Amino acid sequence: MLTREDNELLTRVGPETPMGTLLRRFWFPACLAEEVAEPDGPPIRLRLLGEDLIAFRDTNGSVGIVGAHCPHRRAGLFFGRNEEGGIRCVYHGWKFATDGQCLERPCEPNDSEATRANVRLKSYPTMEAGAAVWVYMGPPDLRPPFPAFEWARLAPGQRTLIKRLQHCNWAQAVEGGVDSSHISFLHSKTEAQLARDPSVNNPLHAADRHPTFEVEQTEYGLMIAARREASAEDYYWRVTQFLAPFWTMIPPVGTFKDSSEAAYDGHAWVPIDDETTWTWSFAANPHRDFTEQERLRRGGHDGMWGPVDEQFHPLLNKDNDYRIDREAQRQNSFTGISGIPNQDAAVQESMGAISDRSSELLGGSDRGVVMFRRLMLRLAKDLAEGREPDCARNAAAYAVRSASVILPKSTPLRKGAAPLMRSS
Ligand SMILES: [Fe+2]
Repeated sequence: MLTREDNELLTRVGPETPMGTLLRRFWFPACLAEEVAEPDGPPIRLRLLGEDLIAFRDTNGSVGIVGAHCPHRRAGLFFGRNEEGGIRCVYHGWKFATDGQCLERPCEPNDSEATRANVRLKSYPTMEAGAAVWVYMGPPDLRPPFPAFEWARLAPGQRTLIKRLQHCNWAQAVEGGVDSSHISFLHSKTEAQLARDPSVNNPLHAADRHPTFEVEQTEYGLMIAARREASAEDYYWRVTQFLAPFWTMIPPVGTFKDSSEAAYDGHAWVPIDDETTWTWSFAANPHRDFTEQERLRRGGHDGMWGPVDEQFHPLLNKDNDYRIDREAQRQNSFTGISGIPNQDAAVQESMGAISDRSSELLGGSDRGVVMFRRLMLRLAKDLAEGREPDCARNAAAYAVRSASVILPKSTPLRKGAAPLMRSS
């Protein structure tokens, strides 16, 4: 459990909050590049860390992420004209470049480069990588190098990316991502179904539902290893990576002895504000292109992270109780809710927009959750006292993968899994 003060500290992300200040030290995805595909195309609304913004692609192809309101009289720039190298407010014609510089104030009699030199719109630096537009919302002089995520550096055929809207605080969603122990329940089939057809679940998960967790702090965040009995001689290890501030990489699932040839998936939970979050899902195949079928399954609107509509809003959501099927829940599915992300959203959103962590009863299986909270609270408190987070600047540390491996009980995990966890 957390004190009420620490719960506030962990969850509030607006400007000037300690956690909001920490999150603003990192690059993160703001929108899909396809949402602002066209130079001079329509701007889109964005809300990130409680700030209202718009994104637009200018005539030269650069993407601007800027304040949503014209600094003149606060009109919404979403309605603006994106033309000839800038976004023009439709109220009085003021125009701004992607870097926020005012380019024209046609309604002002004395408008000139000199008189508008200090007229600026809030703007943040952007980058494009891995089919996303990334943003850095922190102090300009502390802008970090771009993190070395493998998936964002792979050729387009070897990666996928999709997002979905989630109605709860970012930390609550991350906690689902670092909590490997829920897989054997929330995402499983019923005992009756397993008895009928043991192949429906990974038998290694079903055979041992109370894995032992080893959590280690790393230079990028946490290595969360779940150890299960595989046989009298071997352990089955699944290593989830947590990368500060809100990324996870999920261990590959399969019948292999180790994940050296496997693709892997991961998430980022980017706060829209304190009570809503973009759940990003990426996949990386370092070994070959995904097939078309695999692409649609991992990255499609109707794939494994969906279904979502054109606005990336889930079709199974709290308004329709995630279309829970009580008969399926009795017969074959632990939840009666179809799809892993919908099962996750159902339990995470059911805690309320911001879970009251002061009234929890945690156990040994919550080690990953506890370590995540401890790490993020420490980084936020350190920063509030002037100590910068090392991980934000350590771009190379982010070149890691998740891993699954069967190892002899005598082999330490670090030794046995190290080559699987490094990416190029
Ligand atoms: Fe889950």
